[in-house]
Amino acid sequence: MKNHEYNAAHKRPIKTRDIHNHHIDSTFWEDVSFRPDDIVIATYAKSGTTWMQQIVGQLIFDGRADVATAELSPWVDLRIPPREVKMPEIEAQTNRRFLKTHLPVDALIFSDQVKYIYIGRDGRDVMWSMHNHHLNANQLWYDALNQTPGRVGPEIERPSPDPVEYFRHWLANDGAPFWPFWENVRSWWAIRDLPNVLMVHFADLKADMSGEIRRIAEFLDIEPSDWNVIEEHCSFDWMKANAPACVPLGGAFWEGGARTFLHKGVNGRWQGMLTEADNRAYEERAVTELGEDCAAWLRKGRLSGSSA
Ligand code: A3P
Repeated sequence: MKNHEYNAAHKRPIKTRDIHNHHIDSTFWEDVSFRPDDIVIATYAKSGTTWMQQIVGQLIFDGRADVATAELSPWVDLRIPPREVKMPEIEAQTNRRFLKTHLPVDALIFSDQVKYIYIGRDGRDVMWSMHNHHLNANQLWYDALNQTPGRVGPEIERPSPDPVEYFRHWLANDGAPFWPFWENVRSWWAIRDLPNVLMVHFADLKADMSGEIRRIAEFLDIEPSDWNVIEEHCSFDWMKANAPACVPLGGAFWEGGARTFLHKGVNGRWQGMLTEADNRAYEERAVTELGEDCAAWLRKGRLSGSSA
């Protein structure tokens, strides 16, 4: 296990370090007083976080159409807004909370009481989504990340317009200009058997959203009154049509607003763009970093269905 130590009795991961960068300050979690019914949604980023927040929000609020998912489900370790603004808002919530993180397990304060859902997605899909996210970020985004006091490390700069170049840079530089990818996936995979952890894959949500939502509901002990409404409100088309309520800050950080954030909602856009050598380099690296089983899961999920 490269990334964490375990509490010998409970196999509970123990936080061993903090992460700081232009986006993240992992110490924000120190201000969260966990409640027994809290839910944490974790991903590397661009892996279906918002989709899972919508699913969980719909389950908690029993399919209500007017749930302000993004507002209710803050990214705790994002440095923005500052902790004195964000943390009291989280504390003031009276609903069942569903909080978001992009931290690897060993940089997170982990609680036995809380339920954790981790969403995985093939790194190539993550990068194609990230490229759209980064390329379309507006000046407000750069100012917020680069000028908000407390940034550690370099500013985030404008990306190459070429997704292939962007991908190669990311793969060669351990997640740059964001944060390391492999350790994030590896750390969550290592604790997948804990009873309060559920692993979900983007491709499985695409292949069988209905079944996956039921699996998630069972994990959270929620029995909704109308599955059909929930499924409708978690579909790509419904979320895109109602994007401002579903995505961070109503999409204020992106040219084209919230609909830019919910870009295409499909996997495999890199096919035909990456060379055979690129794909081989990615896949070999995945096995080296994650091991065969985790690399296979990350490539296509557990249902082995379509990744399109
Ligand atoms: P694309 O950029 O590939 O379209 P995150 O929320 O982790 O940032 O991930 C965003 C990605 O999830 C985007 O991928 C977005 O379109 C996709 N997504 C969000 N909701 C979705 C849904 N209901 N169905 C399919 N994809 C969805």
